Amino acid sequence: MAQLNLTLPVIFLFLFSNLATARRIYNPQTIALIRSSCHATLYPNLCKRCLSKFANFTIQNPQQLAHVALSVSLSRAVYTRGYLQKVAEEFRAAKNNNIEYLIVQDCLKQISDSVDQLNLSIKELRRLDRRVSTGAGTDTIINDAILWHISNVETWVSTALTDASTCGNSFPGRQRMSKLKATIKVKALNVAQVTSNALAIFHGYAAKYRAAAAARATKKP
Ligand SMILES: *[C@@H]1O[C@H](CO)[C@@H](O)[C@H](O)[C@H]1NC(C)=O
Ligand SMILES: *[C@@H]1O[C@H](CO)[C@@H](O)[C@H](O)[C@H]1NC(C)=O
Repeated sequence: MAQLNLTLPVIFLFLFSNLATARRIYNPQTIALIRSSCHATLYPNLCKRCLSKFANFTIQNPQQLAHVALSVSLSRAVYTRGYLQKVAEEFRAAKNNNIEYLIVQDCLKQISDSVDQLNLSIKELRRLDRRVSTGAGTDTIINDAILWHISNVETWVSTALTDASTCGNSFPGRQRMSKLKATIKVKALNVAQVTSNALAIFHGYAAKYRAAAAARATKKP
């Protein structure tokens, strides 16, 4: 009887998720934007896999794609931080202070830092959007502010990338390692790769403002 009680909701869930998939509308322009933007990243397949989940009408331009890419990166970092917090808690509960615990603590510090930096950069990207919407290309103060926000986003995303890579690379080479170390390495490198992709996508979005600034600079007497 208990089994029957469970089966019904599972069937409903299954039907519902199939319906939801079937109804999701993919915008061909968004697909094209994702393809071309991912092409410029270091991990294009991972990039397409992560972003095509959002390939409906919500992404219409490189600005929105940069938001999605950074949010994906933040959510991966948050997930990995949660995993490391849980593992660290288990070590503490077992009063286990071996070398693996130190590695877990270091990685937790680095991934938490990635989370903070990505969180900051998403907020900065919103500030950039607001500046851009007030009319880029007309006012020197606005133009300078735009470049300032761009450089902040790039700095913070780069720092997040460095932190995640540092954790991932604290497990050298292909030598045999414990299952725990291997799992942490995979998760941290995944955060690093997704963040590297987000940085490349942001570069793509920022390129036109940089180019405009360069053009203005050469025009000046
Ligand atoms: C687009 O997809 C995302 C993620 O699957 C979903 O949250 C969002 O509601 C969808 N938007 C539209 C307009 O379908
Ligand atoms: C991002 O920062 C805000 C505070 O500015 C905080 O409330 C929020 O929890 C942070 N998000 C994450 C994922 O850390």
